Amino acid sequence: MLPPQRGNYATGGRPDMFWRKTSPISTTSPLPTHIAIIMDGNGRWAERRGLPRTAGHRAGLESARRIIKEAVRLELKYLTLYTFSTENWKRPAEEVEYIMSLPAEFWRKERAALVEANVRLKVLGDLNGLPPETRHVVDEAVATTHNARGLTVSLALNYGGRAEIVRAARLFAERYAAAGSENDFAACLYTEDLPDPELFIRPGGEKRISNFLLWQLAYTELFFMDKPWPDFDGSDLVRVIEEYRGRSVRRGGL
Ligand code: FPP
Repeated sequence: MLPPQRGNYATGGRPDMFWRKTSPISTTSPLPTHIAIIMDGNGRWAERRGLPRTAGHRAGLESARRIIKEAVRLELKYLTLYTFSTENWKRPAEEVEYIMSLPAEFWRKERAALVEANVRLKVLGDLNGLPPETRHVVDEAVATTHNARGLTVSLALNYGGRAEIVRAARLFAERYAAAGSENDFAACLYTEDLPDPELFIRPGGEKRISNFLLWQLAYTELFFMDKPWPDFDGSDLVRVIEEYRGRSVRRGGL
C-alpha cells in the first residue's frame, strides 16, 4: 500500500534526524518518476448527462486539478497531461475555443497554490499555433514557475507525436549531422529535459496511444481504463501506481 500521507521512515534504526520526511518511495518497488495521461472521455461524460461537451471539459479540468494535487502529495517528479492534440483543431470552433480558454482559467485560479506547492509548468507542442491569449497565459505560467523544483506538470498543447519527431529530426540534423546518438535525438524533442514516462494512463475506454509521446513511450507500462477522465480521481491514480509497482516487481524478479 502507498502511505496515506507524505513521509516515510528510513530503514536501519537511524536516529530521528535521519528519518526521511520527504518521499513515500519503497526501496524494492519505487514510485514511477514520470506519469503521462491522456485525459479522454470528457465529451461522452457530458453527453451521458445531457450536458454540452464543454461541460465535460470543465469537469476534465477539475479532474486535472485533483490529479495534480495528488501527484504533489505523492511527491511524483513529472506528470504530463495530453490537453489538446494537433488533430483536435478539427472539432467545432466553439469547443476548440472553450478548451483553449481552460489554461487561462486554470492559471488564474490555481496560480497561488501551484507556486506554493513548488510546481513547475511546462508546455509540449507548437506554441506558435495557439490563440494569442492562450499563448500569453502559457508563457506567463511557464516563466513564473521556471525555477520550481517540485512536480513538473507538462501540458501537451497543440501537440502531436509525429510532428514532434519531425521537428526533432530537423534540429538533430542541424546540431549533429550524422553523428548524434539516441540521447542526442531525445534532447531535440519537446521533452528534452524530462525522463521517459514509466507509466502511461488512458481513461475513457479507448486503447490507443493516439499520437502521444511516440518516442518517449517506447518502454512505458500502459494502463487503459473505461472510466472517463472526469471521474478519474486520486484513488484511481494510487491504484494504477500500485498495479504498476506489481508489474515492476514481477519483472525485476524474473
Ligand atoms: C479528450 O476528451 C479531451 C480533450 C480533447 C481536452 C482535454 C482538456 C482538458 C481536460 C483541460 C485541461 C486543462 C488544463 C489547463 C490542465 P474527448 O472530448 O475526446 O472525449 P470523448 O472521447 O468522450 O468525446
